[in-house]
Amino acid sequence: MREQLEQLKNDALVAISSAVGEEQLQGIRVRLLGRKGELTALMKGLGSLSPEERPSVGQLVNTVRDELESGLEAALTAERERVKNERLQSERIDVTLPGRKSQVGTKHPITLIVEEVCEIFAGLGFSVAEGPEIEHDWYNFEALNFPPEHPARDMQDTFFVENDLLLRTHTSPVQIRTMLKQKPPVRIIAPGTVYRCDSDATHSPMFHQIEGLMVDKGITFGDLKGILTIFTNQLFGQKTGVRLRPSFFPFTEPSAEVDIACVICGGKGCRVCKNSGWLEILGAGMVDPEVYRHVNYDAEDISGFAFGMGIERIAMLKYGINDMRLLFENDVRFLRQF
Ligand code: DAH
Repeated sequence: MREQLEQLKNDALVAISSAVGEEQLQGIRVRLLGRKGELTALMKGLGSLSPEERPSVGQLVNTVRDELESGLEAALTAERERVKNERLQSERIDVTLPGRKSQVGTKHPITLIVEEVCEIFAGLGFSVAEGPEIEHDWYNFEALNFPPEHPARDMQDTFFVENDLLLRTHTSPVQIRTMLKQKPPVRIIAPGTVYRCDSDATHSPMFHQIEGLMVDKGITFGDLKGILTIFTNQLFGQKTGVRLRPSFFPFTEPSAEVDIACVICGGKGCRVCKNSGWLEILGAGMVDPEVYRHVNYDAEDISGFAFGMGIERIAMLKYGINDMRLLFENDVRFLRQF
């Protein structure tokens, strides 16, 4: 039995030293020391030895087992070390390589105009208001004095969602939402996205507007002209000429369209202003008493004005952009210029 043990030990040590990989080593452990392993089988043979022989052979079994265990342990440790080193080698990174430069974005011209316009009006005491882009017919039309079937609704090329829900065609419903929430005095500026079923070189189905509303005791058309003149002078330069032309909107009476002297030719006449010397930049007017009726304001007690402008158009005029589609393509080479 001693020889058998010696033989088993020597064979095992050879097997351990020539094993490749952790799996093979674990296999050897099971084959020798497992419940049905070779050494375990020999140990079971101890019972058949004479009582004199048993202690010394038993001790030898223990020694062999300890040797095999520590041999296996050492081989496993070495194997794991080898695998780890191999991984460290393959995952090695060269920290001396130059880094990749991260690209910093810029603000979109639409954002820049919104910020600038809001800032100018903040200086005049206006605060920013917002409303939903999916709007009820009542806020978008009815309360703004577009009765059902009124032909002025046709001008707005509405995207309908369902029943009385639609994509707002202008930021004017924010006027209604604000007046329903708040009693005069009201001074708000409302930038936002609006939608119309219209698409060509100068129209996009999604675009942006800024709405303004001022209501208080004794507000006149003179206040409207004064505020809008301060505004256009700050946005386009101190000497920019301003003129108001009579117009029509269902929710204002009287209504006006506001022109500035052409920023390209200074009023002499060019392609951009179609030789008129003037550029239309917004619609405005005194809030119609019919609108006040819908928001429970007393038209005998207060008065006010409203205005609305398209941000894309303002951005194109201010930055000299000649094609509106550039504003929606998001080409960074274009966007970086502002
Ligand atoms: N909502 C109008 C439009 O989209 C613009 C407008 C005109 C707004 C006159 C106003 C206003 O507040 O007074 O065409």
